[in-house]
Amino acid sequence: MADLRSTIAGIRSPNPFWLASAPPTDKAYNVVRAFKAGWGGVVWKTLGEDPPVVNVSSRYGAHLDTDRRMIGFNNIELISDRPLAVNLQEIIEVKRDWPDRAMVVSLMATMTESAWAGLARRIAETGAADGLELNLGCPHGMCERGMGSAIGQVPEMVEQVTRWVKNAVNLPVIVKLTPNITNILWSAEAARRGGADAISLINTVNSIVAVDLDAMAPTPVVDGKGSHGGYCGPAVKPIALNMVAEIARNPDTHGMPVSGIGGITTWRDAAEFLALGATNVQVCTAAMTYGFKIVEDMIGGLSNWMDGKGYRTLDELSGRAVRNVVNWNDLNMNFSTKAVIDPALCIDCGRCHIVCEDTSHQAIRIDQGEGRRVFTVVNEECVGCNLCSHVCPVPDCITMVPEQTDLPYVTWPNDARNPMRVPEAAAE
Ligand SMILES: Cc1cc2nc3c(=O)[nH]c(=O)nc-3n(C[C@H](O)[C@H](O)[C@H](O)COP(=O)(O)O)c2cc1C
Ligand code: SF4
Ligand code: SF4
Repeated sequence: MADLRSTIAGIRSPNPFWLASAPPTDKAYNVVRAFKAGWGGVVWKTLGEDPPVVNVSSRYGAHLDTDRRMIGFNNIELISDRPLAVNLQEIIEVKRDWPDRAMVVSLMATMTESAWAGLARRIAETGAADGLELNLGCPHGMCERGMGSAIGQVPEMVEQVTRWVKNAVNLPVIVKLTPNITNILWSAEAARRGGADAISLINTVNSIVAVDLDAMAPTPVVDGKGSHGGYCGPAVKPIALNMVAEIARNPDTHGMPVSGIGGITTWRDAAEFLALGATNVQVCTAAMTYGFKIVEDMIGGLSNWMDGKGYRTLDELSGRAVRNVVNWNDLNMNFSTKAVIDPALCIDCGRCHIVCEDTSHQAIRIDQGEGRRVFTVVNEECVGCNLCSHVCPVPDCITMVPEQTDLPYVTWPNDARNPMRVPEAAAE
């Protein structure tokens, strides 16, 4: 059985699945239920200075596909709207009863040393926090007050806040980054310079998920008006994966512990984040969509898969895919793959043909077979773009098969077809 015990920035948890700072971690009642369900840790919903913020109604929006499955979720909620003392007392009680689970506390303050240091000290004095997470990412409501992404979008401020908190308390500090920035490396590097023990990403992405065409306002509608919110859930996973990978392969941030967040719904999502360099993962939308028990499938699925692959610990898995993330210029120009349709699985829907015909390379032929049409890939025309395999509704009906060639690995800078190529001999 794979060992799922996890340590990030010195913070230990029995498994790598934490609940992200959000409504699931808003109060003792939720967190206790989460721990009973098996979550390895939580990042408590962001604490701020009193008086607590006041939320609007309504505050959540959803991006649904045509089957009403939630692709993405958005919110215009603020940080914790409960008094600081109440939260701190509950944090003490929960940690006392669940000492083996990670208790990380998220905080947010205005851009002054006294505000950040004061709040961090209040949390540290509880003796119940295993670490702090600095919320520099909230893209709505708090940023209009000079907090959240208003700080996270300015690398100098990220560095400064991190340093203030590191100087104020003796706890591991995780800096949570905003994806609403042109280059995630600027803020990741700033966090490292400030002394961060780890970073977590992503917080939510700026979004308007839908427009209510009767109210003529973005959803969620608050008395006839809407506002941009923070997007999360399955739709943001690709954005988060890329940012995690960028950080893992950048020399100035490589090796920095990363807590991966963004659209994690299954054990496979989690494994992908780990493979791209994350040390553990955090989950919000999936718990808000399916409830706390999904962690059972995550734990079971990840450990079964690790057993099958021979990974005994998370360390053996973490970062395994990083060396295979390269720039386009490092890809092999001589590699070729072709689509192959399995006639036994094909249900004659014609989708592959129409997409290849209309938008790709006219590489799927239709013949009249006995009682139904037969679809065949014309090898010479197929460029191996993958489109047909993605639209085919039948699993494994279209597979992409690599072509056997003895051509060498050639990258674009060295490819004879590159008009800008500097031949090696001439360059010397
Ligand atoms: C309703 C809601 C409230 C949130 N509140 C906070 C917060 O207080 N502090 C914070 O750091 N992130 C907050 N987040 C962001 C999540 O912690 C997480 O970064 C984001 O949702 C991406 O993860 P997911 O795709 O698993 O939801 C909130 C997210 C949602 C949906
Ligand atoms: S892989 Fe692309 S080019 Fe080849 S058959 Fe499919 S859609 Fe057409
Ligand atoms: S999309 Fe798939 S099932 Fe539909 S015709 Fe093409 S191969 Fe057959």
